Amino acid sequence: MDTIDKIRARFPALQQSVYGKPLVYFDNAATSQRPDTVLVMQQEMSSRFNANIHRAVHYLSSVATDRYEAGREAVRKYIDAGSREEVVFTSGCTASLNLVATCFTERYVGKGDVVLISGAEHHSNIVPWQMACRRVGAELKVFPVLPDGSLDLEALKSMLDVQYAGRVRIVAMTQISNVLGVVNDIAGAARICHAAGVPILVDGAQGIVHSPVSVSNADVDFFAFSGHKVYAPTGIGVLYGKKKYLEEMPPYMGGGDMIDKVTYEKTTYAPLPLKYEAGTANFVAASCLAPAMDFAGECESDIDVRRSMSSMTDYLMTELPKIDGLTIYGTADAKAPVFSFAIKGCHHEDLAQIMDKMGVALRSGHMCAEPLINSLGHTGLLRASLAPYNTMEECEYFIGALKKAVSMLR
Ligand SMILES: Cc1ncc(COP(=O)(O)O)c(C=O)c1O
Repeated sequence: MDTIDKIRARFPALQQSVYGKPLVYFDNAATSQRPDTVLVMQQEMSSRFNANIHRAVHYLSSVATDRYEAGREAVRKYIDAGSREEVVFTSGCTASLNLVATCFTERYVGKGDVVLISGAEHHSNIVPWQMACRRVGAELKVFPVLPDGSLDLEALKSMLDVQYAGRVRIVAMTQISNVLGVVNDIAGAARICHAAGVPILVDGAQGIVHSPVSVSNADVDFFAFSGHKVYAPTGIGVLYGKKKYLEEMPPYMGGGDMIDKVTYEKTTYAPLPLKYEAGTANFVAASCLAPAMDFAGECESDIDVRRSMSSMTDYLMTELPKIDGLTIYGTADAKAPVFSFAIKGCHHEDLAQIMDKMGVALRSGHMCAEPLINSLGHTGLLRASLAPYNTMEECEYFIGALKKAVSMLR
């Protein structure tokens, strides 16, 4: 068995057929599958250690608490955060982004100020800022994307230094767009922002999977991602934030676990990170982050996996454009295995449905990035996104199936 076969064998979901065809799961940018170690943890936490964390003195509660905190430590190590206090658990990347948009804006953004986002953002890094800006009378501005799909950091610099000089309170941008699949230089972006005295939030929903970063070295102020895209279950998300901001911002939600002392007159808050973790947390999913980070780390450091991912990427970047009428978006060299494209004369939904019947799971539509897709002149695209358990044979099957689907529609 080669390395990739061994990895595949750890994913029960990949062993199934759909419509009588072996499943080719190419929708990893939406949700990845879970390896055996994550499934075991999920099962164990539900069947044996199902007890509320941080509250009781009994055995089950202390095991559940330990595993929840081990999940936090695993994340801290994976993203190289300075301390566990800076790693907040939320319900997902969307919740993390809403937390910052709400709390940061309340503390630091006022009337006439500017929040700057990129033109390649997921709705979850647009809408919360729109809502927050509206509340305080601030303006939401957008810096552009270059034709190769990378973010235009020169334009970012000029907006910070000239166009909106002195007015920008925060920059929020994606590390890897879920549509374009290009890896942006977040350390470079952070340098540009900090030179202008502005903090930066990075949406790492796709970056955590394909281009792990040290938040300390990249010196980003906030970093957000979801567990379910990086081999953990749904319902758990992470917000890394620099201590200074997490301490100064007001909490997002009130409730149990986030308090120090409560009276009817006044409440004082728990220390970080619990200040932002009101209510019973998803301790089952959080515990699964430890095996999920282990798996991600193993893949990251395995030369066979890296080689396989890069040959699949090269193959698809070569073969997809050969299909008559196909345009692929996001062609910069720093390409993650996320491929969005349009094919002239074929509607993306029709293609996705035919491909599904051939066993290939793809994403179609606006992919929660309507402004970006519209700027490319489309209402929707088709997307294939890979994970370490995908194979070259699957890529070849996918290209053959796509050609067949196109010929059926023309
Ligand atoms: C770049 C990006 N940001 C944010 C999100 C939101 O993640 P979630 O729906 O898990 O909160 C996604 C999900 O597709 C994404 O791809």
